[in-house]
Amino acid sequence: MAQRNPSMFNRNRLKLGLFGPNCSSGEAATKVPERWVTSWENNIKLAQLADEVGIECMVPIGRWKGYGGETNFEGETWETITWAAGLLAHTKKISAFGTVHVPLFHPIVAAKQMVTADHMGQGRFGLNIVCGWNPDEFEMFGVERRDHELRYEYGQEWWDIVRKIWSGEGPFDYQGKYFKLKNVEGSPRPYGGQRPAMMNAGGSETGRQFAIRNADFHFDHFAVPEQGTEKIKETKRLARELGHEIAVFNAGYVVCRPTEKEAKDYEHYFIDENADWAAADHLMEMLVPNMHENFQGEVFSELRRRFVGGYGGLPIIGNPDQVAQMFKRIHDAGLDGIIISFVNYLDELPYFAQEVLPRLERMGIREPVR
Ligand SMILES: Cc1cc2nc3c(=O)[nH]c(=O)nc-3n(C[C@H](O)[C@H](O)[C@H](O)COP(=O)(O)O)c2cc1C
Repeated sequence: MAQRNPSMFNRNRLKLGLFGPNCSSGEAATKVPERWVTSWENNIKLAQLADEVGIECMVPIGRWKGYGGETNFEGETWETITWAAGLLAHTKKISAFGTVHVPLFHPIVAAKQMVTADHMGQGRFGLNIVCGWNPDEFEMFGVERRDHELRYEYGQEWWDIVRKIWSGEGPFDYQGKYFKLKNVEGSPRPYGGQRPAMMNAGGSETGRQFAIRNADFHFDHFAVPEQGTEKIKETKRLARELGHEIAVFNAGYVVCRPTEKEAKDYEHYFIDENADWAAADHLMEMLVPNMHENFQGEVFSELRRRFVGGYGGLPIIGNPDQVAQMFKRIHDAGLDGIIISFVNYLDELPYFAQEVLPRLERMGIREPVR
């Protein structure tokens, strides 16, 4: 049987993904002129380069409108299932994910769209389930944003339906709290007959439990890698008790330059001197409610800078040795992978691939590309 999402289950002990290139400015809420332009040509070039250097996956942001500010941060985005389909048609080994908002896509339509992308990629499509949190998007769609707990309850029904369609069981009736469906069927099945890899980035306990029950990958969020060690062990243990394995990832943004000074100067330039603060604040306030009440002083300013740098992810800044050391720390803390962003992915990935990847190979946490 064909292997599912082979890159996601390869022997590399620390997996790497590129996060957010389907959006204008990527993950960096900055005004610098070299910020990421999400043209289709750039996305294809990037995916092909990432494929060539052995990066495991491309992970998009599911976003329907900009965050405002001077740049209207992420105002241009590619829809993620069609984006993944296009990338899969032009690459060979890498997995491309769709980030799918379950309240906005009917499960029968989504199941078929994803299968179509999956066959284009011969089993390399992956699903990132998003239960939804941005109120302005829901208003735009005129769709009710359910109470937090109910969002995951709805997500569970959605995923159960998609999985059942993909398993080839059908026609079936579905009587849930949210869906009442008659004679459901959907053919063909995913490539090779097995379902695509699934990830979820639920940050709340309800979200994490959803991931533990259902996902192959959980995106968690730690302010420093070591903070995650016990929780990661627990997430894995709980999934194993349910009879399956789960890998845990974090997100981060990278500035890698020949010297530490150059890297820090660049970080200072794109964040402190050129942040699109209004956009970053808007994002932060939607993602972390009551931000100002819960975080103050230096902790608040550091968090705010990270929202400019890369959606609140871990800063990975320095010369190639320092950047490689940070990846080692991430691995040693128990994380299985990290999805990263750059201010300009295409300008910066070649140097990263040339200098950092061989160091990770020498450290034994990644293998050379064959
Ligand atoms: C790495 C990562 C990627 C995410 N990608 C998206 C996204 O593309 N679109 C979106 O609406 N939410 C996204 N989210 C939000 C999560 O799906 C989730 O709603 C959020 O972390 C809050 O957790 P909770 O829903 O359990 O409260 C992402 C979160 C993380 C940590």
